[in-house]
Amino acid sequence: MFIQQTSTSLADTLRLRRQQLANLIDFPAILWSGSNSSRNFPANPFPFRASSHFLYFAGLPLSQAAIHLEAGKLELFMDDPSPGSALWHGEMPTCEEIAEKIGADAARPMAELESWLQDAATLAVQDAATWTQQSQLLNRWVLPQSPPQGIDLELAKAIVSLRLTHDEAALTQLRKAAAVTVEAHKAGMAATPQAKLEAEVRAAMEGVIIAHNMTTSYNSIVTVHGEVLHNEQYHHPLQAGDLLLADVGAETETGWAGDVTRTWPVSGKFSSTQRDIYNVVLAAHDACIAKIQPSVEYGDIHLLAAMVIAEGLVELDILQGNPQDLVEMDAHALFFPHGIGHLLGLDVHDMEDLGDLAGYEEGRQRSDRFGLGYLRLNRPLRPGMLVTIEPGFYQVPAILNDTNIRSKYQNVVNWQRLSEFADVRGIRIEDDVLVTAVGSEVLTGALPNDADTIENLVNV
Ligand code: GLY
Ligand code: MN
Ligand code: MN
Repeated sequence: MFIQQTSTSLADTLRLRRQQLANLIDFPAILWSGSNSSRNFPANPFPFRASSHFLYFAGLPLSQAAIHLEAGKLELFMDDPSPGSALWHGEMPTCEEIAEKIGADAARPMAELESWLQDAATLAVQDAATWTQQSQLLNRWVLPQSPPQGIDLELAKAIVSLRLTHDEAALTQLRKAAAVTVEAHKAGMAATPQAKLEAEVRAAMEGVIIAHNMTTSYNSIVTVHGEVLHNEQYHHPLQAGDLLLADVGAETETGWAGDVTRTWPVSGKFSSTQRDIYNVVLAAHDACIAKIQPSVEYGDIHLLAAMVIAEGLVELDILQGNPQDLVEMDAHALFFPHGIGHLLGLDVHDMEDLGDLAGYEEGRQRSDRFGLGYLRLNRPLRPGMLVTIEPGFYQVPAILNDTNIRSKYQNVVNWQRLSEFADVRGIRIEDDVLVTAVGSEVLTGALPNDADTIENLVNV
């Protein structure tokens, strides 16, 4: 809770954000921060993470608090720490002190919130205790798994329109998250030659993040089984011929996220097959980033990645046919089944608690095509948006051994040739890219990604 930021700049930033919200809605909003969930008994909670919508307007990760926003004014609702709490948690600031720090117009105890509910919109918080309280107080269902309705939907749209592009204060935080994320990846590469297990590399990476008093912005993926897209196991031994895929991101104390993936050879040397595929993925990554600028459709960036991957795989004689035709029949998705990336901000998939409201331009819907269905962002790019670019190549048994898929793509995959690439289970290269007025800036660009430099970083 003791965040290193001058109170004036934090308060000024928050004042501006709520004034911008007031320009978009003419009804009050109440945003709850959420509460700790217990691991196994109440005194042993999971680490607390405040709701991102709350954080955007309140700036501090306060637990069991709520803010009432109306016409640019902010009322903070929060109980002062109980007298006994100092014994276990130390002296904590009062509601009044926090209200001053964030530039609130008033500080009030939680019990008073009941008289501020009139006509208020809200957004569901993820933890059950809080969304139950939201539903009870507002006398309607406020559920994290259901899309918002009525004024809640109007509030969601207004907040999306603000959070889609980042202000200077947000960018300062996002740059910090990016810098620590880069450092964590370098530490992971350097730790690999001495490591026997994935867990040791994870520890080296998360150690950097923890040492900066940050947390991870999602569960780290550090695995020699990169074909399992969200692999959260760390027990596999590291063997000389393996590629290690590390998707690890830092989150600042006020909740802003980094999200980076690198893939490196455990031995410090890519095999020729690994290097060939790595360079295809890198070509897609570079082509996509080169294309980023305002007004470009993110969906076209995804299709560009698909095209570059298809071309590369045709060149390697893994796919056979015309690359354009292969993309149209989704053959690239056999090996690149996910989208090229997503919005990044306070959430690693920013605002995904609202379904596709943030990711998809109004009137657009998810495609049910094999090669497009996992695209999380489908909007024209705008200056101030932060997106990830994360092409990959994976040999996922559940895809490649599926009899229907195999028969559909029987004639466009050279299965014999593919078997020569058995030492490439999963490669992803992911960076965080800010859309600027004229093009883009890779916030994580200090982390090399070409195969030679990656080898050198593993071999330091
Ligand atoms: N780290 C999750 C993702 O890249 O989307
Ligand atoms: Mn990502
Ligand atoms: Mn990632």
